[in-house]
Amino acid sequence: MDAGCGSGVSTEYLVHLNPLAEVIGIDLSAGTLAVAQERCQRSGVADRVQFKQLSLFDADQLPGEFDLINSVGVLHHTADPIRGIQALAQKLAPGGIFHIFVYAELGRWEIRLMQEAIALLQSDRQGDYTHGVKVGRQIFAALPEQNRLKQREKERWSIENHRDECFADMYVHPQEIDYNIPTLKKLIEASGLDFVGFSNPTVWQLERLIGSNPELIDRASQLDEWGTLSPY
Ligand SMILES: C[S@@+](CC[C@H](N)C(=O)[O-])C[C@H]1O[C@@H](n2cnc3c(N)ncnc32)[C@H](O)[C@@H]1O
Repeated sequence: MDAGCGSGVSTEYLVHLNPLAEVIGIDLSAGTLAVAQERCQRSGVADRVQFKQLSLFDADQLPGEFDLINSVGVLHHTADPIRGIQALAQKLAPGGIFHIFVYAELGRWEIRLMQEAIALLQSDRQGDYTHGVKVGRQIFAALPEQNRLKQREKERWSIENHRDECFADMYVHPQEIDYNIPTLKKLIEASGLDFVGFSNPTVWQLERLIGSNPELIDRASQLDEWGTLSPY
């Protein structure tokens, strides 16, 4: 299951990479599901994938259990990610794998500040997304060239954000929760599932950062993967 599959980019990958699997993509938005359906039709895999307009909070309405649940970029946009992850975890088959991606506080530092600036300057027009995009674009245009928020936008996001929908999604989204390590740990623990690891393990290898100092590596070896002291 691809929960919150959007326009089906990852759903299509799942279908192609798992030729024996039956895949279902669910999403709240009928418009985005139509794009997902068309995408899979064009790549000739429409017969092995189903798309359904359904909230992940109602995943219990789907029959059966899933060996793989993928939910990328979704839980942090829901009002209650803990209830969301629990609703999905209930549908995982024993021994199954559940892959999630949520926003990180540190990675979105500049974005958060810009969101706050737009909200302040929008004042009582908060919630008017067209107006929010206009104010945001005005702020970026006015900021000095060397400003950190402006530089980050230019280097990292401007290619997609020239589209107003993408700009709005980033800077005036009505619902966003960003995670740090302790809050991510809480979210995962709330699912009742075992944490098997990060899907980008090389990024988390301490040797990459402090490998030149064996004493530090030795100290770090007493920590578990969440950075807490291991009892052993
Ligand atoms: C940022 S998009 C991510 C799409 C896709 N997973 C991807 O990685 O390209 C977030 C998607 O979550 C969907 N969504 C938000 N809340 C949802 C919910 N409660 N149940 C199902 N889908 C939801 C939105 O409609 C949107 O398509």
